[in-house]
Amino acid sequence: MKKKIIIAVVTVLIVIQFFRPQKNVSSVPQKNAIEQHYNVPKNVRSVLQPACYDCHSNNTEYPWYNNVQPVEWWLASHINDGKRHLNFDEFNLYPLDKKKKKLSQIKETIEKGEMPLSSYTLIHTDARLSEEQKKIILSWVDSLQTSIGSN
Ligand code: HEC
Repeated sequence: MKKKIIIAVVTVLIVIQFFRPQKNVSSVPQKNAIEQHYNVPKNVRSVLQPACYDCHSNNTEYPWYNNVQPVEWWLASHINDGKRHLNFDEFNLYPLDKKKKKLSQIKETIEKGEMPLSSYTLIHTDARLSEEQKKIILSWVDSLQTSIGSN
């Protein structure tokens, strides 16, 4: 009985390796990316990129274990969900109201320590934000809010 269960589990694990979600990678230039339309200084970019872009852009840098199912499905659901809420590569397509809302949400999630997701920073230790990095993002969002007129 035990043996049958093990065989069944292993079979399922093998079979699901062949079902893979579509990858979040794009080779075309991101025309609507936030940095194409707004000022994103290098020091800001270098915080956002490793901390947020895997889930909030059109290009994810996949870890090796993404090749193991069901990990990829789990990551894909985070990415889809993340992109639905905020996509830095499509920021310019948002209507003004939505841009403003997203900017305040960025501040809020950073201040509350909700982003990056803790399941992510557990492994991506480089994505953990220091107080200094949080300040960089918060004051950048401030200046962006002023320039697009939400104050
Ligand atoms: C591992 C994936 C992942 C990473 C990395 C990540 N996010 Fe998210 N983010 C999500 C998901 C999933 C959601 C959808 C809402 C939720 O689950 O809280 C989300 C939602 C958001 C929202 C919308 C919140 C709302 O109320 O709708 C903002 C703003 C946000 N993230 C900002 C960021 C910023 C800024 C970073 C980097 C500092 C970041 N996220 C890093 C996955 C991620």
